[in-house]
Amino acid sequence: MTELVVMVGLQGCGKSTWVAGHLAGTHAVVSKDQWPNARRRERRQRRLVDELLAAGRDVVVDNTNPSPGERAPLIAIARAHGAVVRAVYVDVPLPVCLDRNAARTGRARVPLVGVLGTAKRLVAPTVEEGFDRVEVAGG
Ligand SMILES: Nc1ncnc2c1ncn2[C@@H]1O[C@H](COP(=O)(O)OP(=O)(O)O)[C@@H](O)[C@H]1O
Ligand SMILES: [Mg+2]
Repeated sequence: MTELVVMVGLQGCGKSTWVAGHLAGTHAVVSKDQWPNARRRERRQRRLVDELLAAGRDVVVDNTNPSPGERAPLIAIARAHGAVVRAVYVDVPLPVCLDRNAARTGRARVPLVGVLGTAKRLVAPTVEEGFDRVEVAGG
């Protein structure tokens, strides 16, 4: 069955590393980071997820996706295609994420306020919000 994986976790927690290690061979990776300068990145991302699932591809959305409100549209798209939807929560303490983020260079390093803002909004994903499965990955 077609699957949508929604990554959840702070900037620098290790989401992309986890995706590369676990899903790279099987899932199409979609991330807003792919279009850093585009307008309407959210819309563009949703459209791409929709198209890939329609084509029968397994998909992973590799963004912070911190709140139920931000995850709900992705869950809805998966449901519209009859796909199963799994959350993978990379649960790493904020100080560790800040250290890892600080160690990055160029565009990969996000401003401190960005990480702190995401930390404020972060709510662990649950089956109650619509995921078939929630997996917690340490980082
Ligand atoms: N399990 C881990 N242990 C130590 N360092 C890690 C781990 N996972 C990722 N990193 C490092 O942390 C940094 C951020 O990882 P990345 O996967 O890009 O995070 P994210 O995609 O969540 O922003 C990278 O430098 C990466 O090499
Ligand atoms: Mg990443």
